[in-house]
Amino acid sequence: MKGESYLIEFSQKGDDRGNLVVVESLCDIPFDIKRVFYIYGSDRDVIRGNHANRETEFVLINVSGTSKVCVDDGVSKKVFDLNRPHIGIYLPRMVWKEMYDFSPDSVLLCLASTKYDPDEYIRNYDEYLSLGGLER
Ligand code: TYD
Repeated sequence: MKGESYLIEFSQKGDDRGNLVVVESLCDIPFDIKRVFYIYGSDRDVIRGNHANRETEFVLINVSGTSKVCVDDGVSKKVFDLNRPHIGIYLPRMVWKEMYDFSPDSVLLCLASTKYDPDEYIRNYDEYLSLGGLER
């Protein structure tokens, strides 16, 4: 097995002032975080992602609002709901992912294990399948 997608529940340090969630590299997040970006302002009917990454692992967290993530490992697909700010989804390398159904207030925080390299993105689904999906 070369890695599964799974939800991570972060501990919430809440008190009467509100909540605080900590995400530390190699502790709460199963890799060393090299890059952070976030996606917002996507309409409900937008589908983002539509790619696989040869090398990069991600954790995605809807720190505000909600979205869905469909993960395809080349054999089967699974849909995850991101609907709470202390829930993240871990995505291993070489899965095909689509993020969609964004709420108007969605802010999708993306933590990545690599710096940006457009060459490690696979943006053609047939090419992804020809590479063997997750089992490459
Ligand atoms: P894109 O990969 O299409 O976003 P999504 O994963 O939501 O489908 O990226 C959108 C644009 O931003 C594209 O021009 C590449 C650029 N970009 C960077 O420059 N650095 C990054 O780390 C990322 C994720 C994207």
